[in-house]
Amino acid sequence: MIKGTRVVLIGTGFVGSSYAFAMLNQGVADELVLVDVNEAKAEGDAMDLNHGLAFASSYTKIWNGTYKDCRDADLVVLTAGANQKPGETRLDLIEKNARIFKTIVGQVMDADFKGIFLVATNPVDLLTHMTWKFSQLPSERVIGFGTILDTARLRYLIGEYFGVDTRNVHAYIMGEHGDSELPVWSHASIGGQRLHDLIKQSNGAYDVKDLDDIFIQVRDAAYEIINRKGATYYGIAMGLVRLTKAILHNEHSILTVSAHLTGEYGVEDCYIGVPAVVHRGGIKQVMNLTLTDLERQQFQQSAALLKNTLHPVLT
Ligand code: LAC
Repeated sequence: MIKGTRVVLIGTGFVGSSYAFAMLNQGVADELVLVDVNEAKAEGDAMDLNHGLAFASSYTKIWNGTYKDCRDADLVVLTAGANQKPGETRLDLIEKNARIFKTIVGQVMDADFKGIFLVATNPVDLLTHMTWKFSQLPSERVIGFGTILDTARLRYLIGEYFGVDTRNVHAYIMGEHGDSELPVWSHASIGGQRLHDLIKQSNGAYDVKDLDDIFIQVRDAAYEIINRKGATYYGIAMGLVRLTKAILHNEHSILTVSAHLTGEYGVEDCYIGVPAVVHRGGIKQVMNLTLTDLERQQFQQSAALLKNTLHPVLT
């Protein structure tokens, strides 16, 4: 009998339950196990989702389980932990979420887990690094969602500005998933035409200064949403499902995930958002783009911030 794919979701808060809902509706995995410290919540979510199965495009076996279910899991998705409150940065969460992760990752590994970790809790780059350390798995099998949502926000806003389908926009946000992230304008294009050429040839219809405003909207998007509704969860949940598909379906897709660098872009031993090839084995390859001097400098500054923030927590 062919073994079905199993995803274990740890944390059924706003992001986790939105992810579970999206996974069911997109029929991505054969099995989805919900684990939460609040067992009643996980059980309630499992019941609620199972009652919607009749409307789903395909069958997914969903139950609220335990860490033992990680033994046969292909993917463990970590969304547990505290999220940003108004006025908090993502890096402010590191102390409390690091303690939670040490316990969680230890319990997953005690179940003899041999799959891939997908980290979604903030500060995602630092917690992905810690998950790698705590699990002692090969770094390619520990992935953070990185700047996948920031990149999606950038592509959406560029599409809105130029009046084109966001799926025809090619652009990356790299660096920390946070305030030090950077737009890689030198590699941004629409339908194969570089953004800067499009603006130059637009006879003033578009202004390069508007790109700065677009980036600020991307960088500050989470704060704006949190100020309005208290948390963000739909966009990130859909991004996590996109990543889950790339892994379980062995897509070899290029997505801006938090990957462990060993010298790329002049950065050593740091998990940070970069375009990387994602497949069944995790991260296959980090794309080494030729950045402008300014982009490279901004990227290295972002990496230095992450490393300086992580060091006192890891030691
Ligand atoms: C955001 C959260 C996921 O950017 O950090 O919405």
